Amino acid sequence: MTPNPRSSRFITFEGIEGSGKTTQIQMLSNHLEEREIDHVLTREPGGTPIGDQIRRLVLDPGNADMTPICDLLLYAAARAQHIEQVIRPALEAGRLVLCDRFKDATFAYQGYGRGIRLDLIDALHDLETLALRPDLTLLFDIDASVALERARDRDSGGPRDETRFEQQDLDFHERVRSGYLEMARQEPARFVVLDARGRIEEVHRRVLHVIAKHLPVREARA
Ligand code: TMP
Repeated sequence: MTPNPRSSRFITFEGIEGSGKTTQIQMLSNHLEEREIDHVLTREPGGTPIGDQIRRLVLDPGNADMTPICDLLLYAAARAQHIEQVIRPALEAGRLVLCDRFKDATFAYQGYGRGIRLDLIDALHDLETLALRPDLTLLFDIDASVALERARDRDSGGPRDETRFEQQDLDFHERVRSGYLEMARQEPARFVVLDARGRIEEVHRRVLHVIAKHLPVREARA
């Protein structure tokens, strides 16, 4: 089964740190902009002023003692705000929404990574505001050690706000990666797993190929 052909309006990008998904979502957004294709580019945690404040909290390396449940609820809180203020209004207006991470990240990081029960995370997302599913999810898959190397190179020398998760050991990132792959196996109609190795331009071409199949014809040309 292929994911929701030609009707995807809510598209999420997922993957472990260093998988290149943020670069790729930005490149896709530029590509659409050049073609004057209306869309919203947003991210989690973040996307709203409150979400950005939560982002600073959850990513602050000084908050290494944050408990797993506190962490989970903060991501969910940011998401509720984001869905209500940004994502749903955009989708209701018929706009295309590209989101850098969404609730699969909570299952992957807080669930598979940090060991919170998946049924608990699931139950939390039954709340009406949180019960929104992407039409299409691109999973950027890459070996965890290669990805971490990339993430560290990217961040070395500059100010960085994302150290808390990079401080986690390789095992953690491997659990996150296999969690993502497991979810992709369980929901083949929504996920497309992309090989995130190789040059940025090559991966971009892979993204365009997938997107062309899932947007209305008018928007499909690469
Ligand atoms: P980023 O790497 O996409 O900027 O995401 C920031 C960090 O937030 C990344 O380490 C993954 C983490 N995260 C979670 O742990 N749970 C979530 O639900 C989300 C959205 C992000």
